[in-house]
Amino acid sequence: MSSQPQSAVPDLSIPSYLNADNLGPWGNYLRQVDRVAPYLGSLSRWLETLKRPKRILIVDVPIELDNGTVAHFEGYRVQHNVSRGPGKGGVRYHQDVTLSEVMALSAWMSVKNAAVNVPYGGAKGGIRVDPRKLSRGELERVTRRYTSEIGIIIGPNTDIPAPDVNTNEQVMAWMMDTYSMNQGQTATGVVTGKPIALGGSLGRREATGRGVFVVGCEAARRTGLAIEGARVAVQGFGNVGGIAARLFQEAGSKIVAVQDHTGSLYKSSGMDAAALLEHVAKTGGVAGFTGADPLANDEFWTIETDILIPAALENQITEKNAGKIRTKIIVEGANGPTTTAADDILHDKGVLVIPDVVANAGGVTVSYFEWVQDFSSFFWTEEEINQRLERVMREAFAAVWQVASEHNVSMRTAAFIVACKRILMARELRGLYP
Ligand SMILES: NC(=O)c1ccc[n+]([C@@H]2O[C@H](COP(=O)([O-])OP(=O)(O)OC[C@H]3O[C@@H](n4cnc5c(N)ncnc54)[C@H](O)[C@@H]3O)[C@@H](O)[C@H]2O)c1
Repeated sequence: MSSQPQSAVPDLSIPSYLNADNLGPWGNYLRQVDRVAPYLGSLSRWLETLKRPKRILIVDVPIELDNGTVAHFEGYRVQHNVSRGPGKGGVRYHQDVTLSEVMALSAWMSVKNAAVNVPYGGAKGGIRVDPRKLSRGELERVTRRYTSEIGIIIGPNTDIPAPDVNTNEQVMAWMMDTYSMNQGQTATGVVTGKPIALGGSLGRREATGRGVFVVGCEAARRTGLAIEGARVAVQGFGNVGGIAARLFQEAGSKIVAVQDHTGSLYKSSGMDAAALLEHVAKTGGVAGFTGADPLANDEFWTIETDILIPAALENQITEKNAGKIRTKIIVEGANGPTTTAADDILHDKGVLVIPDVVANAGGVTVSYFEWVQDFSSFFWTEEEINQRLERVMREAFAAVWQVASEHNVSMRTAAFIVACKRILMARELRGLYP
């Protein structure tokens, strides 16, 4: 037995269920939180709250495949913080999803929801599955079994999932139906991002890309960059990247480079985003598009642009490529695309980074509108939704911009200051139970 005195409070900030030597995206999130600590004043006594997810559920998702065999997939739902309201966050289907990743994504949802001041906590879900390898029937069975398994912790007043990478309106319809069948009543408010015919909101599909566009314009305006003629590069040409590209092009910008999981494209005079969207809808990726030239994947990051929009997955801008990036503004459509080491390199180069927790908050903002509309069974026009979305995004951007100038910190640290203060204030006002 050791004679060393034991501290009453052991350091458990790295949970035993993660690999302490390789924390993955959760480590990136922890480093971001640490940067906020000096700005929280007396609220910093609650900081540890943000470093521990409130609740983690890991589920086995078995389904019968079309060929008669049984396959098992690993599923997660993490509720990071629910001090300000029910958990809220998407569900990701990807073969590389890990617990660390879902934890980080859930925490970024807490920060995001607080940064734009919607009354939600943060949550996220995921399944380790490559949905492209499943038939439609298999995808439906995976979705329904997963929803049933996490049904014990989700609900319209407790935790409300939404689409994320590789999930869409149809997946949300199956989730809503499964939850409703288990409850014995239709519960449209259990998920957002549903089809319009099932209580979905007008404008939801485009909301994240539109929010990226709105904050991109705000950043450009405040730095004296003209949107018309601006050179824009987009990584990820799915829901977020594709819509953002289309809106920038409609405003007169040139989409000079694009990259997705199938390859990269370049066209110095700007490619037709609408035509590229059609090509992706038909073929599943940007490769083979004849309206631009193919580009080596590594070169994508070196193209000179005014605005760069990472809208694919996390950890795309790292210390390896940050030094090569030649752009003025980065608008993070994806969650967690930039590591903290890359953040510092970009900062030193004078690149303005609009962080994910503000830049891609348009989706959750219109999800909030959808949830409100479902509860009141009263639906708004698309114009009303877009106007309200733009107002929320502009106000959030302005508040974060002001804090960044006040403390002379990055927009990311400023967004975390605004958000963490709101979350920890709720924690303090509520007090610790029991
Ligand atoms: N959909 C939303 O409302 C929403 C809201 C907030 C944040 N986000 C974030 O935006 C990002 C994209 O989400 P989405 O909904 O557009 O997903 P999506 O599935 O519609 O599109 C993902 C895109 O990323 C590309 N991609 C995947 N792996 C890649 C790789 N290794 N290299 C280059 N490109 C790759 C895919 O080809 C695709 O174009 C994610 O980080 C997601 O968490 C989405």
